[in-house]
Amino acid sequence: MISVRDITHRYDKQVVLDEVGLTLPVGQLTSIVGANGAGKSTLLSVISRLIKPERGTVFIDDLDVQTAGADAISRRLAVLRQDNRITARLSVVDLVRFGRFPYSKGRLTPEDHVVVDEALDYLDLQPLRDRYLDQLSGGQRQRAYIAMILAQDTDYILLDEPLNNLDMKHSSSMMTLLRRAADDLGKTIVLVLHDINFASCFSDHIVAMRDGKVVVQGTPAEIMQRETLREVFDMDIHVQDLNGMRLGIFWTTGAPVGPLPLAGQPETDGSPGQAQDEQAAEFAWRA
Ligand SMILES: Nc1ncnc2c1ncn2[C@@H]1O[C@H](COP(=O)(O)OP(=O)(O)O)[C@@H](O)[C@H]1O
Ligand SMILES: [Mg+2]
Repeated sequence: MISVRDITHRYDKQVVLDEVGLTLPVGQLTSIVGANGAGKSTLLSVISRLIKPERGTVFIDDLDVQTAGADAISRRLAVLRQDNRITARLSVVDLVRFGRFPYSKGRLTPEDHVVVDEALDYLDLQPLRDRYLDQLSGGQRQRAYIAMILAQDTDYILLDEPLNNLDMKHSSSMMTLLRRAADDLGKTIVLVLHDINFASCFSDHIVAMRDGKVVVQGTPAEIMQRETLREVFDMDIHVQDLNGMRLGIFWTTGAPVGPLPLAGQPETDGSPGQAQDEQAAEFAWRA
């Protein structure tokens, strides 16, 4: 369990984390959502000891993050930061081997090589393993960083905007893979996501931040409510239920989105209300 207690942090005079308290349960997938500048990356940096907060504590199980050694933390927790990535001229496989550093200290055992190969397989990177990072597309490079994180093989995995630069197929398979890592391997996964629908469909728990505070947290069904989303994002997001999935329609802010007529059903029953609904649906699709 990751336990965040009363964390406050300031840059200059600006409070960016304001008495944040959170419990992130073991073996679950938690998504952190919120607008740009809400404090999500700063929170992840505090949890992973990259930033020392002005006040408060973070525990990973029995480990006090402030006082534990770097080695102890890096065997327990792996973190993908949003920026400041390695840019040296490095091949994909060498980057992924870095993930084994907390164990091998640079001398890889046969077992380390197996883990590296598995991570490359997982992320569809074998054909690119010998390419340099600066010879990859943004999405391919993103997958290489995530393979490095998986190769670290920690119980806790924190990923700041892991879907950045990924196309639809790789985004979807990334989320499926992370869900599997929680379900099958008992990993505790914490993600910063911008796509509320990925958060809704794949998370056990969603934490919503605004202005350095956790405004609300709960299950996807609890968070994916029009009023709640308005409070978090300051946007009017229409929420629909599709086969048990709660989906937020945010591409057409405030537009009167309505269900389209189902195939095989009469287009109109002649009532003025239905004509308006159809007009609204038409508008939504064109917007
Ligand atoms: N190194 C820094 N120095 C000063 N201000 C910073 C620094 N990093 C982030 N901030 C500010 O802190 C706030 C929270 O940033 P961040 O945690 O990156 O938000 P998020 O990840 O939710 O977009 C923002 O207002 C940002 O401008
Ligand atoms: Mg961020």
